[in-house]
Amino acid sequence: MTILITGGAGYIGSHTARLLQEMGRDVVALDTLERGYRDALDDIDLVEGDIADPRVVGKVCRKYDVASVIHFAAYKAVGESVSEPLRYYKNNVSGSISLVETLLEHDVRQIVFSSSAAVYGTPDGSPVNEDAPLRPQSPYAQNKADVEHFLASCDPLGLRSVSLRYFNAAGAHESGDMGEDWSATANLVPVVMKVLFGIEPMLEIFGDDYPTADGSCIRDYVHVDDLADAHVKALDYLASGGTSLVANVGTGQGTSVKQLIAVTESVTGRQLPHRVAGRRPGDPAAVFADPTLIRAVLGWRATRDLREIISSAYRWHERHPDGYDR
Ligand SMILES: NC(=O)c1ccc[n+]([C@@H]2O[C@H](COP(=O)([O-])OP(=O)(O)OC[C@H]3O[C@@H](n4cnc5c(N)ncnc54)[C@H](O)[C@@H]3O)[C@@H](O)[C@H]2O)c1
Repeated sequence: MTILITGGAGYIGSHTARLLQEMGRDVVALDTLERGYRDALDDIDLVEGDIADPRVVGKVCRKYDVASVIHFAAYKAVGESVSEPLRYYKNNVSGSISLVETLLEHDVRQIVFSSSAAVYGTPDGSPVNEDAPLRPQSPYAQNKADVEHFLASCDPLGLRSVSLRYFNAAGAHESGDMGEDWSATANLVPVVMKVLFGIEPMLEIFGDDYPTADGSCIRDYVHVDDLADAHVKALDYLASGGTSLVANVGTGQGTSVKQLIAVTESVTGRQLPHRVAGRRPGDPAAVFADPTLIRAVLGWRATRDLREIISSAYRWHERHPDGYDR
C-alpha cells in the first residue's frame, strides 16, 4: 500500500516524501515538474504527470496500489493568482476535483490536503483558530477555501480528508541538500537569504507603524520538516479511522519581521542590510495560529524554532547557491 504525493517534487512535498521514506513507508510522487525538481526526490519514485489527467492518476493508483494521498500540487503565488485567475482556478480547483474523482474510482478514500492560513484573510485577532470566519483575499486563497469545502462535501461518498491550514512554511532539510527555490517565492525567509547571498541588495520591511510591539508585521513561521511531520500524523489519523478534519499547522508563536532580522544576524553572524519601506496593501498586522486543535487531535506540535529555520535555510543556500538542477 503506497502513499501518493501530488506535487511531491515541490518544496514541502519533497520534504514530506523524504520523511515518509525515512520512516520506511512506500511513497510515489506525481508532479508535472513545472515548478518542482526531480533532484529534490533523489531515489523516490516520480511519475511525471498532471493531477487532472485521469489516465495518469489511474495508472499510478493501480501500479502502486495507492491507499492514501497527500495533495500538495497547486500553484501558490498570490500575486500571480490575481493576474491569472483562470489558470489558478483550473489547476488548483478543477485539478483537485478531477484528482478526487479518479481517486474515488480507484477506491482511494483518504486524502490530506495542503490548505493555507490565507483562507482567514485579515483575521479579527490572533491567535486564530479554525472557527474564525474565512475571508480569502485572493483567487489563490479562495482556491484553498473552495477545495476545503469540496473535500468536506465528499464525505457522503466515503472520502475522509484532513485539510491542513499551514501558516508560513520556511527552512530546509537538516542535511542542507534539500530546500526552497528562492527564485519562485516572495516569502520572507527566502528573500532574507537572497539578501545575505547578494542576490538582492537590501531587505525591505513593509511598514513599521503597525500596532505590534516593534511596529513590524507578525507571522507564524513553521519549519518545513515539522510541517512534513504534521502530514504523517494526519495520514495516520485517517488510517486509524479518523473523521474529516480541518486544522491549523502553526507554532502558536508570532515573530515580527524585525525579530526575524535579529535572529538571522545572530545565527549567521552576518549583517542583513534592511530599510523600512511603506506598508503593502492588504498585509494584516499580526497572524499566528492557535494550534490547540492539531495538538489535541493529531498529537502534533512544532519542535524546531526560528533559529533552526534560519540555520537550515542558510545551509541549503550556502551549499546549493543555484538550487536544484532543472
Ligand atoms: N510554501 C508555503 O508557505 C505554503 C503555505 C500554505 C500552503 N501551501 C501549499 O502547500 C502546497 C505545496 O507548496 P510548496 O511550497 O511545496 O509549493 P511548490 O510550488 O514548491 O510545489 C508544488 C508542486 O506542485 C506541482 N504541480 C503544480 N500543479 C500540478 C499539477 N496540476 N499536477 C501535478 N503537479 C503539479 C509543481 O510542479 C510543484 O512541484 C501548495 O498547495 C501550496 O499552495 C504552501
